Amino acid sequence: MHTLADVDKNKIPKHVAVIMDGNGRWAKQRGKLRVFGHENGVEAVRRTVENCAKLQIDYLTLYAFSTENWNRPKLEVQTLMKLLVASLRKELKTLNKNNIRLKTIGNIDSLPSKAQKELQEVISKTSSNTGTTLTLALSYGSREELKSAVKEIASKVKNNIISLENIDETVINTHLYTHFLPDVDLLIRTSGEQRISNFLLWQIAYAELYFIDVFWPDFSEHHLVEAILSYQNRERRFGKTSEQLN
Ligand code: FPP
Repeated sequence: MHTLADVDKNKIPKHVAVIMDGNGRWAKQRGKLRVFGHENGVEAVRRTVENCAKLQIDYLTLYAFSTENWNRPKLEVQTLMKLLVASLRKELKTLNKNNIRLKTIGNIDSLPSKAQKELQEVISKTSSNTGTTLTLALSYGSREELKSAVKEIASKVKNNIISLENIDETVINTHLYTHFLPDVDLLIRTSGEQRISNFLLWQIAYAELYFIDVFWPDFSEHHLVEAILSYQNRERRFGKTSEQLN
């Protein structure tokens, strides 16, 4: 089994994004309620954040709650929000100890006020950290993000703040929730599903995709390492030929 020490430190992906899937099925397998899966999912979040910080990954983005997740049973949504608040409270010290900066993407205004308050506090108290940037995607949907960027840009064109000719990729990037993040290098999805589920559609244009048949609560150091080793063994051509790269 590989460990963090097996990773090539000269070829670390700058931005790793994770679709944390399979909490519900993990719990069901054990004859437990779905919320038990989420509780154990929090432990996998802690492990993954800590391991990414140890590997000096600059940006880690976690899909914690999608716009579509609001349609889940009320009790499950409430539990996820409670877990978020409790985890933020509990982990503030550890985030600071590990030099991790917290950020969010998504429609944060739609979260319960308690969650918004806790997030603001942890974001502000970790804002001067310079290690890994941990971004939680909360009430996040990529189409919603693109729609709001298009609206903002269109309004600026209408009001002569930017001209139509000047709209380029940089302008689009600066109007996305992710304006402070580079493109994703490696996207991991757990649980065996091979879908993107409305996550960072624009930002994964050239990402390496890694699907692993393990439910999120079981995702451990060696799974993260396998994903990174797979990334390190791939040739990223960005549309060029192999010969051009060499
Ligand atoms: C997917 O499993 C997971 C989620 C929708 C939520 C992820 C949340 C956590 C891991 C806990 C809270 C997060 C933080 C950052 C403290 P699923 O419920 O879709 O599983 P299933 O596909 O098996 O039903």
